Amino acid sequence: MSSLAPIRKVAIVGAGQMGLGIAYVSAVHARVHVAIHDPSSSVLSSAMELYRSLLSRDVAKSRITQSDEDAALSRVKSVVGDGSGQSGETIKDDVDVVIEAIPEIPDLKLGLFKKLGGLLPSSTILASNTSSISITKLAAAAGNGASSEERKASASRVIGIHYFNPVPQMKLVEIIPALQTSQETIERAKAFGRACKKEVTTSTDSPGFIANAILMPMINEAIMVLEKGIASAEDIDTTFRLGMAHPMGPLALADLIGLDTCLNIQKVLHNETGDSKYRPSGLLSRMVDAGWVGRKAGKGFYEYDAKGGRLTIPPSRALVQQRDYRARKAEKIAQLQQTVEELREENAALKAELVDMKNRENARLKGEQSADIAVDSRVNDASGSNFSHIPQPGTSQLDSDRLNTPLSNPPFISPLPGTTFPPIDPGDTNCCGGLFDCSSSTVTGLGANSISNPQIKADTVDPYINIQHRHVQDTVERSVGHPVDDPPPFQLDPTKCCYGLVDCDLVAE
Ligand SMILES: NC(=O)c1ccc[n+]([C@@H]2O[C@H](COP(=O)([O-])OP(=O)(O)OC[C@H]3O[C@@H](n4cnc5c(N)ncnc54)[C@H](O)[C@@H]3O)[C@@H](O)[C@H]2O)c1
Repeated sequence: MSSLAPIRKVAIVGAGQMGLGIAYVSAVHARVHVAIHDPSSSVLSSAMELYRSLLSRDVAKSRITQSDEDAALSRVKSVVGDGSGQSGETIKDDVDVVIEAIPEIPDLKLGLFKKLGGLLPSSTILASNTSSISITKLAAAAGNGASSEERKASASRVIGIHYFNPVPQMKLVEIIPALQTSQETIERAKAFGRACKKEVTTSTDSPGFIANAILMPMINEAIMVLEKGIASAEDIDTTFRLGMAHPMGPLALADLIGLDTCLNIQKVLHNETGDSKYRPSGLLSRMVDAGWVGRKAGKGFYEYDAKGGRLTIPPSRALVQQRDYRARKAEKIAQLQQTVEELREENAALKAELVDMKNRENARLKGEQSADIAVDSRVNDASGSNFSHIPQPGTSQLDSDRLNTPLSNPPFISPLPGTTFPPIDPGDTNCCGGLFDCSSSTVTGLGANSISNPQIKADTVDPYINIQHRHVQDTVERSVGHPVDDPPPFQLDPTKCCYGLVDCDLVAE
């Protein structure tokens, strides 16, 4: 069992955002009676209204029961005045702990501690929620306020109990003993912090302690970055929220703390250390001059409604993710559009190539056809006769090379097996047709005008001619329109046999 004197009654001086939060955790978690003092009755009534709404919200969220709420309501009372007797009621001397949460102005706090040091018994802990002011100085002030015999004891009950904002949610208190603080005071303060359901850390009495020695210079730097126009308030805060996983950016946090408090803390750091690196930002000072001290004033780096809700909301994580998704989607669509465009171009090129190939092929075929027609007409022209019975291209195997043969080498039409020819008109005196023994220069008398001694010198042997005897005979029979001698009057050499039509004028001399 603990030998520490229990804490049952607490007085809080200052009913601002911190004083009210401390009253809440004291009454709800530590279950102690709380008297909350503030010179402003309007501040007190808003504080009590807020207190009731916090309790109702907790009941609605099943964090506490209705009877917890009733008990918590009955534990807290508001008192007009600073508690020192300067105005309104003084703090009762049966209070176990006084927690001061008035503005971060050294002279104000020193004055209060001096008065409380003389007013309250040395068993009452005098705690300060200061963010930066020397606890040792406050302890000295409390000692100075007491009688000379009580001075040491009065100073030894002073300690820093530094809660964080918003108090109901933040899980930490920093405990800062002054040089004069007794061990018992330290232990009782720590026990009370834990009773309020907070983790406890301890810092020596150094400007800013742990938290604000680090946090406030960072906030001050963030304000300087804004002041220099390096980035907008939103971009500074978004950088910290998304780049460093801070729950809120430094400027939004400054608005929450209060720019007046930030300026006061920064001034303490600057004055106490004498180090120019703590020089408060000019913009911070100007904003405090303007009364734009943040959330509690409705305007700071951002603007707020009467309930402290942000009117200018920074992009939430979900919104940023949505923006990222949209950007990625737009990029993908652009890529796909580019691919479609490339495919269209490729397709058009292929189509053009195809059309070109088709045209070239058509031209080639046309060229071939006209070459064939040219050859045909050349044969006709050269012969001076109408060789209408000559098979047309496509209906027989015309050998265009042979037809291109100069007329001094008369053209031959060499049938391939199966080729049939219309009969040669026996009345055509200019036309010779029949079988020619190319090697012997003999034209058999198969046409209407048999030529006994044609000067046909077949320099070439038609490689196509590979006609079997019987087939040749059939062909000849059909060509002349009547049966021919069997065997023909010459010995057919299938490899040296030509059949065709020649202009007799050319071959008859
Ligand atoms: N705001 C924060 O985030 C934060 C966090 C931790 C600690 N603190 C510290 O808590 C203390 C209070 O800060 P706050 O943000 O609650 O300030 P606040 O301005 O919200 O509240 C200060 C209250 O003190 C009252 N007051 C003024 N002069 C008084 C006097 N002489 N006697 C009694 N009451 C007086 C005011 O009416 C006001 O209600 C400061 O020391 C501050 O450094 C603040």
